Amino acid sequence: MADAVLGGSAEEVFAKELAEAGLRYEVDGEIATITLDRPEKRNAQTFATWSALARIGDNLPEQVRIVVLTGEGPSFSAGIDLRMFTPEGVPGQGSFSSAAQLENASFEDTVEQAQQGFLWLRRPEIVSIAAVHGHAIGAGFQLALACDLRIVADDVKFCMKEPALGLVPDLTGTKPLVDLVGTAKAIDICLTARVVEAQEAYRLGLAEQVVARGELARAVREKAEALLAVNRDAATATKRLLRGARERTLEEQCAAERVEQARRVAALFG
Ligand code: CAA
Repeated sequence: MADAVLGGSAEEVFAKELAEAGLRYEVDGEIATITLDRPEKRNAQTFATWSALARIGDNLPEQVRIVVLTGEGPSFSAGIDLRMFTPEGVPGQGSFSSAAQLENASFEDTVEQAQQGFLWLRRPEIVSIAAVHGHAIGAGFQLALACDLRIVADDVKFCMKEPALGLVPDLTGTKPLVDLVGTAKAIDICLTARVVEAQEAYRLGLAEQVVARGELARAVREKAEALLAVNRDAATATKRLLRGARERTLEEQCAAERVEQARRVAALFG
């Protein structure tokens, strides 16, 4: 049975925000599952989706160690809600036409807020797993990239469509994409806006595992169980080391390893 997330009226407000954002959220012990839940619109995302994701991150119960991102229906996510490209926009959330009227700094603040929905998924205290099937386009691809691991169904179709629409990927996806596949492949994928299917995604390191569509939930559950079998504090410290490794020199990384190990040894044997 899923645990309660927030108490009293805060819980009601949160539940309303999630429903409006097209999200479902359940916490079951150490595993939180976030489901993109607007299948009739292929889980298209809006600013409400991103602020609800950020709120989930801000209120994640301390016991949670695994966060699973998944999508209901035929697609993981068809990306940004295309109503954003119409003059009317998404009711209550404006449009790109209204955003174009903003000062550059205000527009950048708006994007920075949206990015908060993605960034927390990299936190060292959790391992985030994107369970991706069907289309993961634009913001959908970037949401999968925001996670630590991607387990994909054999029908997955990743596509960074933004440049084909005259835009850039701005929902935190460019760095993990380059980190995973390298600059040349990232240029190829983004600037052609081509589809990357399951086997190529696996080959490029975009996916850790490819499974049959019907096996996706089981594969994610098994990965979660394997991750939960490891000492929690050691997992957090190791993820901190691994996430920081690219930005550090070898000497800095060795120093960071020493610091983390001194903490572990003190905690275990002190
Ligand atoms: N926004 C809003 N509605 C969407 C949508 C989107 N991104 N994608 C699909 N839908 C809606 C369709 O309009 C349709 O609604 P109705 O039934 O009311 O007509 C419904 O979802 C089903 O869509 P399809 O019939 O097209 O479903 P499909 O399974 O045949 O195809 C798909 C799925 C390939 C994802 C196709 O819907 C598609 O190409 N969608 C648009 C993808 C796209 O261009 N996304 C924007 C990417 S860019 C980005 O995310 C970031 C950015 O720009 C900054």
